[in-house]
Parts: sequence; C-alpha cells; structure tokens
Amino acid sequence: MSCSPVPGSALWVREVLEQEWRPRSRPVVRPLSGGLGEPPLTHTAGLWACASGDRSWVFKAQLNPDAVRDADFYPLKQGVVEHCVSRGVPAARAIPTASGAPIALRDGVVCELLPRYSDAAPHGATAEQVAEVVRTALRLRHALDEVSRATVEDLARMPVNPLVDQPDWALALGEVEDLLKLAEARDDDWAALAGSALREVLDTEPLLAEAPAPRADSAVHADLHRHHFLLRSGQVEAILDFDNLRAGDRLLDLAWTAELCLSAPAPEDPAGPESLREFARRCVDEELLEARDLRRLMPALLVFSLPVLVDIAKDILQRDILSPVWQQYFHLLSPARRARVHKILQNL
Ligand SMILES: Nc1ncnc2c1ncn2[C@@H]1O[C@H](COP(=O)(O)OP(=O)(O)OP(=O)(O)O)[C@@H](O)[C@H]1O
Ligand SMILES: [Mg+2]
Repeated sequence: MSCSPVPGSALWVREVLEQEWRPRSRPVVRPLSGGLGEPPLTHTAGLWACASGDRSWVFKAQLNPDAVRDADFYPLKQGVVEHCVSRGVPAARAIPTASGAPIALRDGVVCELLPRYSDAAPHGATAEQVAEVVRTALRLRHALDEVSRATVEDLARMPVNPLVDQPDWALALGEVEDLLKLAEARDDDWAALAGSALREVLDTEPLLAEAPAPRADSAVHADLHRHHFLLRSGQVEAILDFDNLRAGDRLLDLAWTAELCLSAPAPEDPAGPESLREFARRCVDEELLEARDLRRLMPALLVFSLPVLVDIAKDILQRDILSPVWQQYFHLLSPARRARVHKILQNL
C-alpha cells in the first residue's frame, strides 16, 4: 500500500510539480532559503526551490486556506501581470501548468510556479538601487492606472481576506491600550517586542485622523514592501507577489513606494530624505498624484497596516502564537518610520 504524501511536504511538492508542470527530468525540491543573503520573508505560504536540469523555479503553496482567493482571481491576476509586463514592468509571471492554467489546485492548496530570480532584495541597498526600485514601482503604478474599469470591477467582487480578527482600523486602535497593559504586565522579550510596536501605533494616532476615506476604484498591488523587489546587477529583475491585488486606493501603492526610500539607509543618512524628495518630484511631474496628496500617503499606509500590527500583538500577548517572523513584520510595518517619512513629505 502506498501512502499519499502530506500536503505541503517536499514529496507532495515534487509530485504536484511533476504531474501539473511536467518538467523534463525529475526535479530536486528544497525549502527556499536566501542562501548567504537575507532569508525570504514569508508568513502564509510554503516556498520551495525546485531544480530540474539547468532550470530552477520557486514553487509557492498557499497553505493557509483562509488566504486562498476566489477561483476566478488567479486568471484575473495573470491578466494584470501580463498587462504590466506589456508596459515594460518586470512583474513576476507565473509559469502556466501543462494544461495552461495559472495555478494548480491540489488538496485545497493553491500552487504556483515562478522562475527562480536572484535572491537579492534592496536591503542595505545603495542610493542607486533605491532609485531603481522607486522608478520601477512608479512604472508599475502607471501600468496599474491603465487596467480596465471592467477588471477593477471584477477585482472589487473578489475581496482579500484581511486575515485578522479586527479588520476595522479604528476598532483595532481602540484595543491598543488594553493590549499595551498586558504587555507591560509581563517581563519577557516577546511582550517587550509587542509593547514597543503598540507604543509606536499610539504615537502615530494624530496622523491616523488624516487618512483618506476608503475607495476601491483602482487596481492596487497593495504590498509593495522591499522584499517584493528582487534586484540583479542594479536592475529590478522581478516585482513579486500579486496575491493581494485588489480594487483599492492607488495612493496605497504610492505610499509603499515612498516608504521604500527610508527602508534601506540608516535613519540619519541624508540619502533617505534625498530619495524621498526625488520620489515626490517624480510623482508630481509624472502626474501620479497632486502635491497636496503627499501628506495623505503615510496616513493611508498606517491605517492599512494597523489591524495587522494589532493582530500580531494579539498573537503574542493573547494567543501565545510566537513566530520568528513577527519581529521582521513589526520592523517592516514600523509606524515610527512612517511618521519620519510623513514629516519629510510635509516639509518639502
Ligand atoms: N521566484 C522567486 N525567486 C526568488 N526568490 C523568491 C521568489 N519568490 C519568492 N521569493 C522570496 O520569498 C519571499 C516571500 O515570497 P512571497 O512574498 O511570494 O511569499 P508570501 O508567503 O506571499 O509572503 P507573505 O505572505 O509574507 O506576503 C520573497 O520576498 C523573496 O525573498
Ligand atoms: Mg509576500
């Protein structure tokens, strides 16, 4: 009697890859790691490095059933990615299965195969690399601005599961003080980590009031943090992870892009503010936004991430779910850094 491999295991990945994508020779499957570089930042997916002959891929298995999107989303996402590529944007294109589908669905798990790109992110990047990432993100925003109204309407019918127990940012904010008390009553490192993120949230409360009203009239990537830009030889080789593509406010993508300017240099390095000024100049020159909208960017991004920050704090303080990636997510979504970006944007 032969047992089926466990969904999400290496054996299972190899079986799905062989049956759905039919590589010429038997693939080698290993967990994806960053090699000598920064490890990949992932929370909900299982990522595997696969190789067969001289070809190598990344196999992404969405193991969290709550994160799986509507079945019609995947062909729609493929269409948007193709549209971006046709506009010269290096959006990561999934490799279709042998039957031409954008994903394979196995045991309820959505599986996607991508070419394996060089695994560099703009971490500790030079000012030139940051400029290249920002230019690429703005090209993506131009391309997304040209997505048809019908596609935006289709996206609006396929909302993203926020994966938090309180998705309303104002209500999540109302929970912060009690969570902070829980954190301050403990003396372990996890509580200290959650406590410092929650204090950052409270410190930015005045900015939250300036958040624009929600809108859903544009195609929005919604997750343009630095881990989703892979660089090779100073050029962005791929923009990853269109899994949060949605109908939303286009200012959100511009806000992520602004933040990229301060995500690499040290806080006191003048290169950060300098690239942020260049970002603002480009946005206005290219008519991506009006100068008065610059002050709305960080409030939009802060309210977008607030429910996630609060939910991670709850994982730590109430649910005892302790993940090694929580520290990286707190850093990635740091309200204090966003307040610094806001201050610079306000004083241009
Ligand atoms: N095709 C690829 N080539 C090289 N590295 C990749 C590739 N796909 C993903 N990675 C690495 O893995 C990381 C996580 O990938 P991805 O964002 O697709 O997963 P994820 O589970 O959606 O993450 P999250 O749930 O946190 O958004 C990327 O930031 C990158 O470092
Ligand atoms: Mg991701």
